[in-house]
Amino acid sequence: MNIFDTIHTNYEHHFVKSNPLFLESMFGSKDLMPLWIADMDFKIAEPITNELQRLVDRGVYAYEFNPDSVFKTISDWNFKRHQLKLETKAFIQVSGVLTGIALLIRELTKENDNILIQTPVYHQFHKAIETANRKIISNPLKVVEGKYEMDFEDLEQKLQSENIKLIILCNPHNPVGRVWNRKELQKLISLANTYNVTIVSDEIHADIIYSKTAFTSIASFNNESHITILGSPAKTFGMQSISNGYLYIPNKDVFNKIKSTVSSMYLDHGNAFSTFATIAAYTKGEAWVNELLVYLENSINWILEFLQKEIPEITFFVPEGTYQIWLDFGNFNLSEEALKELIFSEAQLALTPGTWFSKDHSQFMRMNIATPLSNIQEAFYRLRRALDEKSL
Ligand SMILES: Cc1ncc(COP(=O)(O)O)c(C=O)c1O
Repeated sequence: MNIFDTIHTNYEHHFVKSNPLFLESMFGSKDLMPLWIADMDFKIAEPITNELQRLVDRGVYAYEFNPDSVFKTISDWNFKRHQLKLETKAFIQVSGVLTGIALLIRELTKENDNILIQTPVYHQFHKAIETANRKIISNPLKVVEGKYEMDFEDLEQKLQSENIKLIILCNPHNPVGRVWNRKELQKLISLANTYNVTIVSDEIHADIIYSKTAFTSIASFNNESHITILGSPAKTFGMQSISNGYLYIPNKDVFNKIKSTVSSMYLDHGNAFSTFATIAAYTKGEAWVNELLVYLENSINWILEFLQKEIPEITFFVPEGTYQIWLDFGNFNLSEEALKELIFSEAQLALTPGTWFSKDHSQFMRMNIATPLSNIQEAFYRLRRALDEKSL
């Protein structure tokens, strides 16, 4: 039996994912299988637990900042996993990736400036832009021969006409699961350079990459444009509630500007649990991540086969990365409300509605597959039964 099969799915109520109040307010019922928010049901790698245990046993929680040793382990990890060379002096620690995005929006643009995102995309990008009183310009992704691609023609047209100040890139892309390749990123960077627009690349899902794909960071392009990368061990190691986020800013002027704000607001004071858990994860967690990826890919293959055989009407965009899957229910011709009723009330699944990521995606649902395969199988059996009951 695989270690990821044995994880409990007896969800505790204080977890956001299974909190009955959240479930009821968002999906209309408390009794749903929670497969929405992007965290994992798996127990974290043992070396991380051991390190946390060591801190508890030590019983002393004096001030303890150690960002340089964290930056070195992130750098070593990225070189090993992605052949990516990162300079430790270009890192800035923040409390999370979203904090970093919110900060960069405020530091790199002014109120009412236009910021471009590639929809459908992680809903918090929308919120971070709007709550900072900036405007969203959407460069919708397009589907070409069953695969999501960037629409460069639309992008160039928007860069020409909309006075865009910032592009927020999601790589790997949540929710569509694309891992942008070198050619695509090169094209994006050269357009951004032509129109003098900064790119902020959110690479939090960078380590969840499946076997047929390689990850390319925007930091590998080695140019001096204002490119910033945001990462964190959160998604890779299932450390959402104990990890920090990291900015990587090769451009010295931009680095100094952001560093001074972060430092003046004391946003870079990590805590010891996060620091040592991160170091343990990146130095001793690799075997666990390798096993995780094999496990997730096996689940993806099961889903693909099941859908082809049992529910071919659902279009499944097989992910190159991330543990989210993006499902298109458009072939059933249901209204937005009828689809929600089918998924939430009849199949009793808490999936994330496509409209969170773009208002045009009311026929889509995102499912989190970082849960035991038996759980995923149960979810799809429930879906098949709910469809049968509706004769769909
Ligand atoms: C693309 C992306 N960025 C950021 C986050 C959240 O990052 P953090 O919890 O570090 O703020 C998520 C979580 O789902 C995500 O998918």
